[in-house]
Amino acid sequence: MKAVVIRTFGDPEGLEVVDLPAPEPGPGQVLIGVEAIGVGGVDAVIRRGALAAYGFRAGHLLGSEVAGTVTAVGEGVDAAWAGRRVWAFTGLSGGYAEQAVARVEDVLALPDGLTGEDAVTLGGSGLVAHFALRKAHFAAGETVLVRGAAGSIGITAVQLAARGGAGAVAVTTSSEERGARLRELGATHVLDRSGRGAGPDVPTGFDVVVDVVGGPGLPDVLDTLHAGGRYVLVGVVGGQPPEDFGARLLRDFRKSLTFAAFSTDTVPGPDRQTVRAEQFAEAARGDLRTVVHAVLPLGRAADAHRAMDAGEVFGRVVLTP
Ligand SMILES: NC(=O)c1ccc[n+]([C@@H]2O[C@H](COP(=O)([O-])OP(=O)(O)OC[C@H]3O[C@@H](n4cnc5c(N)ncnc54)[C@H](OP(=O)(O)O)[C@@H]3O)[C@@H](O)[C@H]2O)c1
Repeated sequence: MKAVVIRTFGDPEGLEVVDLPAPEPGPGQVLIGVEAIGVGGVDAVIRRGALAAYGFRAGHLLGSEVAGTVTAVGEGVDAAWAGRRVWAFTGLSGGYAEQAVARVEDVLALPDGLTGEDAVTLGGSGLVAHFALRKAHFAAGETVLVRGAAGSIGITAVQLAARGGAGAVAVTTSSEERGARLRELGATHVLDRSGRGAGPDVPTGFDVVVDVVGGPGLPDVLDTLHAGGRYVLVGVVGGQPPEDFGARLLRDFRKSLTFAAFSTDTVPGPDRQTVRAEQFAEAARGDLRTVVHAVLPLGRAADAHRAMDAGEVFGRVVLTP
């Protein structure tokens, strides 16, 4: 089968299209004939070599998230899975290929009307948005900031906050064009990356911040929390925050602020599947929107990574074998 591996860590040019033997489903696994592959930020992080300490080696087959049809089942798996259209989490490897294996507990049947492209855009990131807002104890009427809203996590967080009755949903983004698109999805105020916005009614403080960016600007965003405010960091696309950022929390001790890091790894598998199934059903009905930036053939994985590195992607890039 055709697959894309990391030949050399670093630039997207280090990605190579190769022929590999098709994987076989082991006990508890299914084999999927892939129709769509989600290209995630973590794929770029692995490709750059930033996770070498975790044992990634040259020849690594990238990809965490696919959609397609189950073509075979391993030992101990209900044969009724065969022939079903599914979304699947493949771990930190194995997705950029014509066929992929996944543990059956990481596989979810797709509802009618949901495309594979939409499923791999929503499957991983929608969950982060949902559980981040839950972690923040977000309630109707509260003022929310989604920092780094132009990615697939932020796009879902904006929609969930808006329909959850937020008093305001502010977003940070790098262009007016992106701001206009985010307004269509439910944002009420568009701020620049530094958190500044124009207009008399721009909120200057927030009850809840969902932050995909992190980086050096994080402490200044902490300062914008109202008393009792909750900050949930879900990503670090802007880099690691300064090590002493916690000093801001202590300086504002009397505001009773809460800071949390959040990973969906800590959500029990059945809860993940329940929420994912609800979001897929909503997306199939058109009640939750996904934004597919571009659909490229698998052989152009390097172009997908170039677009990500250049900051051109609004939503998610999808590869098709
Ligand atoms: N918590 C979890 O369980 C979980 C699960 C999966 C992934 N993640 C993490 O989530 C992140 C990826 O999320 P995503 O795909 O939604 O994000 P993304 O598309 O990679 O980035 C979101 C937006 O952030 C803005 N941005 C990028 N670099 C920035 C910078 N240096 N400073 C300020 N803004 C910047 C960009 O928008 P503008 O140009 O419009 O500003 C970009 O579109 C990764 O860190 C990944 O590890 C977390």
